Amino acid sequence: MYLSAALLALPFAALAVSGRSLDSRRLADHNKRFHRRSSYSLVDFHQGDSFFDGFDFYSDADPTNGMVNYLSQEDATNANLAHVQSDGTTVLAVDNADDLSEGEYRNSVRIQSKNSYSKGLIIADIYAMPHGCSVWPALWLVGPDWPNNGEIDILEGVNEYQYNQYTLHTSDGCTLDESPTSSTVNETTGKIQAFAANILGTTCASSGSSNAGCGFSDPYTTSYGHGFNMIAGGVFATLIDDSGVSIWRFERGSIPSDIDAQTPDPSSWGVPMAFWSSSTCDVDQYFKDMSIVINTTLCGDWAGSAFSSTCSGTCSAAVANSTNFDYAQWKLNYVAVYQ
Ligand SMILES: *[C@@H]1O[C@H](CO)[C@@H](O)[C@H](O)[C@H]1NC(C)=O
Ligand SMILES: *[C@@H]1O[C@H](CO)[C@@H](O)[C@H](O)[C@H]1NC(C)=O
Ligand SMILES: *[C@@H]1O[C@H](CO)[C@@H](O)[C@H](O)[C@H]1NC(C)=O
Repeated sequence: MYLSAALLALPFAALAVSGRSLDSRRLADHNKRFHRRSSYSLVDFHQGDSFFDGFDFYSDADPTNGMVNYLSQEDATNANLAHVQSDGTTVLAVDNADDLSEGEYRNSVRIQSKNSYSKGLIIADIYAMPHGCSVWPALWLVGPDWPNNGEIDILEGVNEYQYNQYTLHTSDGCTLDESPTSSTVNETTGKIQAFAANILGTTCASSGSSNAGCGFSDPYTTSYGHGFNMIAGGVFATLIDDSGVSIWRFERGSIPSDIDAQTPDPSSWGVPMAFWSSSTCDVDQYFKDMSIVINTTLCGDWAGSAFSSTCSGTCSAAVANSTNFDYAQWKLNYVAVYQ
C-alpha cells in the first residue's frame, strides 16, 4: 500500500532517470538506507504578503565582482524590483527599464533569510527564475565566516545555460563520495545509484583561487533558465541530515502531494538529483547556521568568464542593454523550512 503510493508520487524526473524498469524493491532499499521515514514540522514559511518579513535585503558590493547595485528594501520596492503580485507570487527582478553606458552597474536584488539553519528540509517552490546574457542567479544556503560553515548551491547557473548546477563549498577535508558504500547498485550498469545528476567535481574545499566546489550537473533542460520557466518551474527540496546533503527536483506537473500538503516525506521521493554522503563530508562539521540567500548578479567571476559559451559580444556590453533583462526575474511561490 505504502510503496505503491510512494511510486505514484514519484516525479517525472526521478522516474525518467531511475528507470523504465524501475524496481520498487531497490528503491525502497535506497530510501531505507538514506532517507529514513520521519515526520517534519514546519518551522518557517515565506509566501505572499509576508514573504519579505523573513528576509533582509543586502545592499553592499557583490563579493563575486558582479556589475550590480544591490538595492535596499526601500529602493527595491520603489523601483518595483521586489514586490508581491496580487496572486501571491513574490517577484525579485533585475532592472530592465534602463539602458546604461557600458561599464555602469545595473540595479538588482539580493535577499537573505533572517533565520539560519544547521539541519532541516528546505523547500523552494519556484515558478520562474532569471536567465539571460550576463545573468547569474542563485538560490543557495551559506553559513557565517565563509567557507568555514559551508555553502550549498541549490539552483545556480549563468547566462543561457540549460542545466542546473548543485554545488557544495566547504573548508578543508570535505569531498563528494562518488560511490557511497551503502547505496543502491543498478543491476544493469553495476553502478552505484545514490544520485541522478552527473558529477562535475569532487573536491568541496575552497582554497585560494580554486573555488569550483564539488557538484553535480542536472541532466535535464527543465532544470534551469528558459527550459525551467517553460514548464512553470517546480520544487527544489534540500535535506540536510545525518546521512548527508540531498537535493531533489520536481517539475511543476510532478510535485509529490505530500509537499503540497506540507507533510513532506523524503523517504517517498526516490533517488535525489544530488547527494553528498556524510561518509566523506560530515554534515555536523562542515555546515552550520546557514541562511537562505536568493540573488541575481551580473557578469562577475563566473558569468563573466563563461560568457562566450552561450552569448556573443562582451559581458559588460550585455549589462548595458536593458533587453537582456526581460527574463531576469525570480517568481516565487514559497520557501518553507521544516525540521
Ligand atoms: C539502471 O541503469 C540503466 C542504464 O542507465 C537505467 O536505464 C535504469 O533505469 C537503471 N535502473 C534503475 C532501477 O534505476
Ligand atoms: C550572489 O550570487 C553569487 C552566485 O551564487 C554568489 O557567489 C555571490 O556571492 C552572491 N553575492 C552576494 C552579494 O551575496
Ligand atoms: C540590445 O539588444 C537587442 C537584442 O539583442 C538588440 O536588438 C538591440 O539592438 C540592442 N540595443 C543596443 C542599444 O545595442
